[in-house]
Amino acid sequence: MNNFTFYNPTKIIFGRNTITSSLKQNVPKNSRILLTYGKGSIFKNGVYNQAIKGLEGNGHKIFEYGGITPNPRYKHGMEAVELIKKNDINFLLALGGGSVLDLTKFMSVASCWTKGGDPWIMYQKRTIPKYSPTGALPIADVMTIPAAGSEANCGSVVTREYPTQNRKIGLAHPLMFPKFSVLDPEITFTLPWRQTRNGIVDSFVHIIEQYVNSLSNNPIIDGFSETLLKTLIDSSYVLLKKPKDYGARANIFWASSCALNGIIRTGIYETDFVMHHLGHEITALTEADHGLTLAVLLPAVWKNQFEIKKEKLARYAENVWGIKYGSIEEKAKKAIDFTVNWLHDIKMPTNLSACGKVDPKLFPKMADQAIKYWAPVKGSKGLGQFGNLGVKECVEIYKTCE
Ligand code: NZQ
Ligand code: ZN
Repeated sequence: MNNFTFYNPTKIIFGRNTITSSLKQNVPKNSRILLTYGKGSIFKNGVYNQAIKGLEGNGHKIFEYGGITPNPRYKHGMEAVELIKKNDINFLLALGGGSVLDLTKFMSVASCWTKGGDPWIMYQKRTIPKYSPTGALPIADVMTIPAAGSEANCGSVVTREYPTQNRKIGLAHPLMFPKFSVLDPEITFTLPWRQTRNGIVDSFVHIIEQYVNSLSNNPIIDGFSETLLKTLIDSSYVLLKKPKDYGARANIFWASSCALNGIIRTGIYETDFVMHHLGHEITALTEADHGLTLAVLLPAVWKNQFEIKKEKLARYAENVWGIKYGSIEEKAKKAIDFTVNWLHDIKMPTNLSACGKVDPKLFPKMADQAIKYWAPVKGSKGLGQFGNLGVKECVEIYKTCE
């Protein structure tokens, strides 16, 4: 097992009817609160009313910033920062999915940025210590979709629009851990299938990007990851038949949080995340759903990196899909087929055309941008677990998705 430090200070409050009571108990009294939310789902599924009830009577002054889009926008974050400064807001409460929470994390550090100039520099130059966040407002959230895992981590992914091309990039910093996150699985009953499926696949790929790398010889984390993967697969089939099955919704929610709260990267060697890094470039171009880009890239990355990943894929085949017979290669190949079949079963496309129009001429630029932004985070020259994926290999992966 590798050395590690595990730090996750976010309090998780999980279960039915927890929103009102947990806000009453956990939001500091007499706060000046900014409620942030998306395009309106919180008004239909009861989250807004339950939150307001939980905030009543504690001396709070409440402000609101709504209309945050999926793949949340820098310009909206900056509008909210103005509101925060103008009204001396001292607590941010995100009501919604990963996009709402990610942009709220941006607001939190951007409104406390003391070094002058555009706070976007924190995201752009995330590996340079002098551009690290200089402070943060406290954040809490009511998470309404099991997907990004943002409720249990300190990451934030934001898109900025430029005249020529959008950039979708991210920052992770301990100041951006939520103080607490409320997860009520009943709230996820209202998710349309597209979002349910996107969230399951995003959570699944978060586990895969940490688990399917070189053999880590870490039975605790490998076993935990396999259980999370099996839980997502089993529960997805339950939801196809019974979208309001509380047990399946709850299992998916908790699996999704555990997938990206840091626990399954303890003691393993390097994580991969190449599907994410290449996927963000697709979304920046076409607005494709994050989960969809991952489903498209997963088989392509596995086929391209077969030699490096085949042993772990064979273990995954055995322990997740019950494939007991055959050589390492045979089991690994079956693992890819079984995974793709499952994606199709849950109505998730795996071909690039489902993401919208991406001109293959752009592949080298997309690969180059992803490498330049994400590789330095790991101190390597290329993407992937071993930093071995340069422009040529990433272009090959994009081509395999076509
Ligand atoms: O805008 P509203 O009306 O709220 O509707 C949303 C949105 O249209 C809807 N929705 C959310 N909860 C609902 C609901 N509809 C009905 N009932 C509910 N209970 O779902 C749509 C998608 O919401 P969004 O927040 O975009 O989804 P998700 O949670 O999948 O977040 C995706 C974003 O998270 C980033 C992605 O890149 C993407 O931008 N990620 C963040 C990570 C992190 N912070 O650690 C890691 C991830 O890998 C990911 O990159
Ligand atoms: Zn993701």
